[in-house]
Amino acid sequence: MAWASSLGLMVLVAAMASPASAQLSATFYDTSCPNALSTIRSVVTAAVNSEPRMGASLLRLHFHDCFVQGCDASVLLSGQEQNAFPNAGSLRGFNVIDNAKTRVEAICNRTVSCADILAVAARDSVVALGGPSWTVLLGRRDSTTASQALANSDLPPPSSDLASLIGNFSNKGLDVTDMVALSGAHTIGQAQCQNFRDRIYNETNINSAFATSLRANCPRASGTGDGNLAPLDATTPNAFDNAYYTNLMSNRGLLHSDQVLFNGGGGGTDNTVRNFASNAAAFSSAFTTAMIKMGNISPLTGTQGQIRVSCSRVNS
Ligand code: HEM
Repeated sequence: MAWASSLGLMVLVAAMASPASAQLSATFYDTSCPNALSTIRSVVTAAVNSEPRMGASLLRLHFHDCFVQGCDASVLLSGQEQNAFPNAGSLRGFNVIDNAKTRVEAICNRTVSCADILAVAARDSVVALGGPSWTVLLGRRDSTTASQALANSDLPPPSSDLASLIGNFSNKGLDVTDMVALSGAHTIGQAQCQNFRDRIYNETNINSAFATSLRANCPRASGTGDGNLAPLDATTPNAFDNAYYTNLMSNRGLLHSDQVLFNGGGGGTDNTVRNFASNAAAFSSAFTTAMIKMGNISPLTGTQGQIRVSCSRVNS
C-alpha cells in the first residue's frame, strides 16, 4: 500500500515535471487543416518578399510571445504586452499575422491557433531570408490574458550585461548556447537610435569607423532622432547568415547586449561566438535547436485557453 501510493506519487510528480510541450506535434493539423502551413507560408513569403525587414519583425514577434507567459499569442492581444517598454513603438508584423489568420480561418474555422501561426511565421521568415529551416511543432492554444508587467520583467533590455542575459534565458529553460544562437536573430532587422545611443557614444569596445557612421543618424541628445533606424547587421542586413558573429568579433555589435557576447562580457561566450562566426553549419544547427526549444516554452494545450478567431482579441 505504501509502495503503491509512493509509486502513484512518483508518477504524479513525473507527470507534473514533464513539459506540456511534449504534447506539441509536427502533424497536429494534418487532418484538421492540411493546408494551414502552406497558407501561412504564402502570406509570410509574399510579405517578406515585398519588405525584407518584415521577416525580422515576425521572428521577433514569436520571441516576444514565447518569453511572456509562454508561446500563447498573448503578445497579439491589444493593449497589455503591446504597451510594455520592449514592445511599444517597436513590435511590427501584426497585420501579416492577421492576414494569415483570416486566410486560415477561411479554410478551417476555429482550428489553427494564433500562437501556432506565430511559430510557423517565424520559421517561414527565416527561410524566406535564406536561413535554415526546421520542423515546427504545433498544437499550441491561445491565451485569454496578457501581461504588461511580465513583458517588462521577462524580456531582456538592450542594456543587459552577459550575466543578466544568461539569467533571463535560463529562466525560460534556455542554456547559454541557446542564448548565443538565438541572439543570432540579430543578423536581420533594425533597431532604433534610442536603443544603441549609449553604445555608440560611450562605449570603448566598438569599432571607431562603425561608431562614427552610426552617429551621423543618431544624435547624442536623447529626444532627438530616437526612432532613427540602423541595421542590426550592417554587413548583410537582409540575409539570415552568420555575419552577426563576425561583426561581434570586429566590435561591430549594434546593441550593448550584442557586444557582451564577445569582448564585452567577461569572455564566457567568446568561443561560442568564434565557432558560429567560422562555422555557418554550427550556427544553423544551434539556432534551429534553440528555436524549437523556445517554441516549447509553456504552451497551452488540450482544452486550455482557446483558438482565437481574431488574434487581437479574446473570443466573445
Ligand atoms: C538576447 C537578448 C535580446 C535583446 C536584449 C534584444 C533586444 C532587441 C532590441 C532592443 C531590438 C531593436 C528594437 C527597436 O529598436 O525597435 C531588437 C530587434 C530585433 N530582435 Fe532582439 N533582442 C534579444 C534577443 C532576440 C531573440 C532571441 C530574437 C529572436 C529569436 C530576436 C529577434 C530580433 C529581431 C529579428 C529584431 C529586428 C526586428 C525588426 O527589424 O522589426 N532578438 N532586439
